[in-house]
Amino acid sequence: MKFLTILPLMFVTILGDSAIDVTANVPLLDGRIVGGSPVTIEDYPYQVSVQLLGSHRCGGAILNDRYVITAAHCFTIWPTSWHTIRAGSSIHNSGGQVIQVNEIYSHPNYNRTILDFDIAILHLVAPLTFGPAVAPISLPSQNQYYVDDTPAVVSGWGTLTENGAAPLQLQAVWVPTVNNAKCGELYAIEDYAVTDSMLCAGYMSGGRDACQGDSGGPLVIDGQLIGIVSWGEGCARANFPGVYASVSYSRAFITDITVSCLGVRDVPEPIFLVSTLVFLILERSLLILLEYRFLE
Ligand SMILES: *[C@@H]1O[C@H](CO)[C@@H](O)[C@H](O)[C@H]1NC(C)=O
Repeated sequence: MKFLTILPLMFVTILGDSAIDVTANVPLLDGRIVGGSPVTIEDYPYQVSVQLLGSHRCGGAILNDRYVITAAHCFTIWPTSWHTIRAGSSIHNSGGQVIQVNEIYSHPNYNRTILDFDIAILHLVAPLTFGPAVAPISLPSQNQYYVDDTPAVVSGWGTLTENGAAPLQLQAVWVPTVNNAKCGELYAIEDYAVTDSMLCAGYMSGGRDACQGDSGGPLVIDGQLIGIVSWGEGCARANFPGVYASVSYSRAFITDITVSCLGVRDVPEPIFLVSTLVFLILERSLLILLEYRFLE
């Protein structure tokens, strides 16, 4: 059933929207910073652009010279080797260091329907070279939480308004953290669950700063990565703070992958892959058929 809703998106942009996991029944933050301002990478050296065939898809943050953390919903059926990251550039389509992704590790408890544990770790084929524009971000310890209303900064290359144009220059905006229970109550109206693996940040008044950065992008307090941009209702809307994957809550998973190498390879579901190929073949045949008719 869900697959049917994916088809129109794939028809429009075969490598575009379908690069994002559209099976979720929560609204995805597939890329937006509203009410922020342009910033330079030297002030956010942990920020990377996660790219599919050279196009910006999601944000991410540098854990160490071989690992990047991002959102699990940024990956669907496309081969791991089609993904690269660009680090050390304020502009997402030029400069810096571009490195291919070697392996994608999604959180074992990732739930693509409700976006529970929406975290993935990317292992790079070659190490990043650290410098003023490329540096790792610190992590909070397991179950280390900040008090509600703590200012946090989120950055990314997402669009500047809901459905608006996407900037080439990195943007950042400050948003206060929101109590999880309160955030859950707000989203209960829409029937979305805010689980323990998530955290919220944004202004109740909405407007200039209730929206976040690219999916997978970093939410940072005092130089510590506390959240990964995950989902939200619209963009900069009142009473709908942005929802992030909690880094603290998934701290053990991050250690498992980056320190103990306990990851299980993340492979696409075969049925999804097969149905996508069938769809692509049907679509091509239809186009060829139409062309033939017009020629007649
Ligand atoms: C995802 O979460 C929903 C809602 O809690 C649940 O019904 C579903 O079984 C979960 N899916 C998986 C794969 O755990």
